[in-house]
Amino acid sequence: MNLPVTIWKISLEQAPQVIETGYRLLSPDEQQRTDCYKVQKARESFILTRTALRQALAKRLDCLPEELHFDYSERGKPSLRVPRPSSEFSFSVSHSGELAVVAIADCKHIGIDCEKIRPLANAESLARTVLCEVEWNRWIELDEEKQMGSLLKSWTLKEACLKAIGTGLAVPMRDLEVRSESDIGLQLVTAQEILLTVAPWALAYFEQVSGYQIALAAAGVSKKIAAEFYEFHFDG
Ligand SMILES: CC(C)(COP(=O)(O)OP(=O)(O)OC[C@H]1O[C@@H](n2cnc3c(N)ncnc32)[C@H](O)[C@@H]1OP(=O)(O)O)[C@@H](O)C(=O)NCCC(=O)NCCS
Repeated sequence: MNLPVTIWKISLEQAPQVIETGYRLLSPDEQQRTDCYKVQKARESFILTRTALRQALAKRLDCLPEELHFDYSERGKPSLRVPRPSSEFSFSVSHSGELAVVAIADCKHIGIDCEKIRPLANAESLARTVLCEVEWNRWIELDEEKQMGSLLKSWTLKEACLKAIGTGLAVPMRDLEVRSESDIGLQLVTAQEILLTVAPWALAYFEQVSGYQIALAAAGVSKKIAAEFYEFHFDG
């Protein structure tokens, strides 16, 4: 049996009126947050992603987007307060460049990360923070061209895991190892208690959108991830 995960792909290049309509849909605290962004692109990215998240969750939970209320963990992970979903329901959001993604699944902890494929400044020092020793030893032997893709892949997979449990980067990525086994696929190896208590982990990695890498992590799931990708169209 597989775990179906719905993934909405959201273009962050939208007409001003879509952004304006989205802004009006947001709750007062979300609008307040929007007003704090100094960089216009970051402001628009938040409005569009949050609007898409509200519309996608509302469709799934059969309610209106404005009826949703979010809570936030100490580290900023959003969850639903109203309507209160089952404990086997979770969602996750990521944005990078001109793309945002929303993942929704019937499991306790889902995490998604997307990264625009781009040249990385100081790749070696970044690799030191992202890769564990075993991964570093393999990575440093790769051609320079392959190093970038490989590093971004490790990064997205590990960030997806850390978003699933809500710690974000408070847990160092280099404490995690992602192994690719030919028979069972991607596996998470770690001694970090917080990730072990919610094991087993299911991981998946996609190059669904040209120019972007997308990774998914589901905790407490012994099934394989079956991702279903959809283009998001804004209502209204
Ligand atoms: C989670 C984290 C890795 C996301 O990094 P990012 O590069 O901004 O990445 P993404 O675009 O992939 O993800 C952003 C989304 O993740 C979600 N998110 C935020 N914090 C999160 C957390 N701790 N766990 C899971 N998801 C989180 C939000 O939905 C956010 O989107 P939004 O701001 O539009 O709502 C990073 O913000 C982090 O490490 N946060 C924890 C840091 C912390 O301890 N903060 C304490 C003060 S709040």
